[in-house]
Amino acid sequence: MRSETPSFAARFLRHRLPRVCVALFAPTPAELMEKIEAAANENSLLELRLDYLAQPAQILPKLKQFAEFHRDIVLVGTCRRTVAGGKFRGSAASQYEFLLKLAHAGCQLVDIEVETAKSLKNREIEKLRQVAGVIVSYHDFRATKKLDEIWEEMRQIPADYLKVVSTAKSLSDNVKMLRLLEQRSDAVSTVGVCMGEAGIISRILNVRSGSEFTFASAQRGEETAPGQIAARVLRDVYRIDMVDAATKVYGVAGDPIGHSLSPQMMNTAFRRENINAVYVPLQTHDVKDLLNCVREIPIQGLSITMPLKEKILEQLDKTDAISAKVGACNTLIRSQDGKLYGFNTDVAGVVRPLEQRVALTGARILVIGAGGAARAAVFGLKERHAEVWVMNRTAEKGQKLARQAHAHYVSRPQLKKLEFDVIINATPVGMNSSRPQSPLEESELRARFVFDMVYNPIDTRLLKMARVKGLQVIAGTEMFVHQGARQFEIWTGKPAPVEEMHRAVLHAMGHTPNMLMREPAPALEARRM
Ligand code: ATR
Repeated sequence: MRSETPSFAARFLRHRLPRVCVALFAPTPAELMEKIEAAANENSLLELRLDYLAQPAQILPKLKQFAEFHRDIVLVGTCRRTVAGGKFRGSAASQYEFLLKLAHAGCQLVDIEVETAKSLKNREIEKLRQVAGVIVSYHDFRATKKLDEIWEEMRQIPADYLKVVSTAKSLSDNVKMLRLLEQRSDAVSTVGVCMGEAGIISRILNVRSGSEFTFASAQRGEETAPGQIAARVLRDVYRIDMVDAATKVYGVAGDPIGHSLSPQMMNTAFRRENINAVYVPLQTHDVKDLLNCVREIPIQGLSITMPLKEKILEQLDKTDAISAKVGACNTLIRSQDGKLYGFNTDVAGVVRPLEQRVALTGARILVIGAGGAARAAVFGLKERHAEVWVMNRTAEKGQKLARQAHAHYVSRPQLKKLEFDVIINATPVGMNSSRPQSPLEESELRARFVFDMVYNPIDTRLLKMARVKGLQVIAGTEMFVHQGARQFEIWTGKPAPVEEMHRAVLHAMGHTPNMLMREPAPALEARRM
């Protein structure tokens, strides 16, 4: 049976363990020591993956010295064997001997994988526990299954912490891990996490469900397990130190999602408005899997991106009129009774930046494109009584949209006969390519304002051309921020901190906030040119 009494080391530690454990590895003792020194400036719980060293014992003297001078830093000694996915080729007995040495060198915690722990006698583990807290760990590199059974089995081992690591194949696998933590972590201190892209949310939400801490990489590119988030991002973006059982969960769902700027933007908004909420990325193209998480975690609200914007519609209890017209929904809210409501805030993303500058009633606006973004722009602007023209590469699609929205269709050759108040690019042309492209030539830019929905790069070729011509430009980041601001309002009922959100987005894109955040032009009367 497991010992119910935590070791002296563990009792002492439990009161001062931080939320984030940074996992470190290096090929040589000197390089690992360098990484330890650097990480210790910002982090006080460090896991050392000593199995990455060809001769792990060589590091012991330096480690001992470090531990003596840094008593505030908790070191976790790990020397994972190959049977458990590590690199240490020695036997269980030699691993045990090394862990004892690590404990004596100053590692206040040591990690033994369950495979080794089972081969040891309880008195051997107790001997280790006299000098360090013991983490018994389980790893499944393929799936997330039988977590309860595994945990029960691990519980028989006299450990201070149980660490359960599985691989998420779906978002719903995270729910299994969170349930385990909720139901078991009161009995024995448990750390739980799902690896893999689909498991990213477990690395943030685990502490909310009772995990003692979560694992992080020292920085991007230095992950010791797939899906690991950098420590600084966990703290600065996800405010991991604030996440608790009362924290409400929101997120952005789609695939791909890794480069989404929404977490930076929305978490900034929650922080600024003092709302106990966290906004996480959910990578999936499976609506059912996503909605299962929404119900089970539960998730209070979602931003929906490609490829889910259209197919989520049929799964919702109700949608606003504009989502139905546009045929796409980018915002979901879960009501208290569990019902799911859909909204389309892309419309606000287009309309709000424009109405700060132009009176929309009667304004002459050209929308280029006929996809989801263009549909939101066209229907939204028609609702505001603008006069809208649609132009699209595939004429039939553009004509169909124009017909549905009671707008005009214009072919490219006819453009030179027309002048507009605003031209909006609602195609991906100009996005992030090595050869900057524009949907129109300079001579075709016959308007006062040019609004590009593309926001990466911020300064597209289209906007550059417009500026050279003396036209006023509206960058795609404004649309991104305003559609997010409207989501924030729907979820919280509070006005969104738009400026802070914009600043967060520009900062995340590596731009200085004042670069494109010029004073909005005074609202001008729409007039024909
Ligand atoms: P979104 O939901 O982001 O609007 P979408 O539904 O795929 O994306 O629509 C993309 C729009 O950009 C379409 O109108 C598309 O034109 P087609 O209808 O002819 O496909 C337009 N588009 C995409 N690539 C383009 C290009 N290289 N030149 C011109 N238009 C382009």
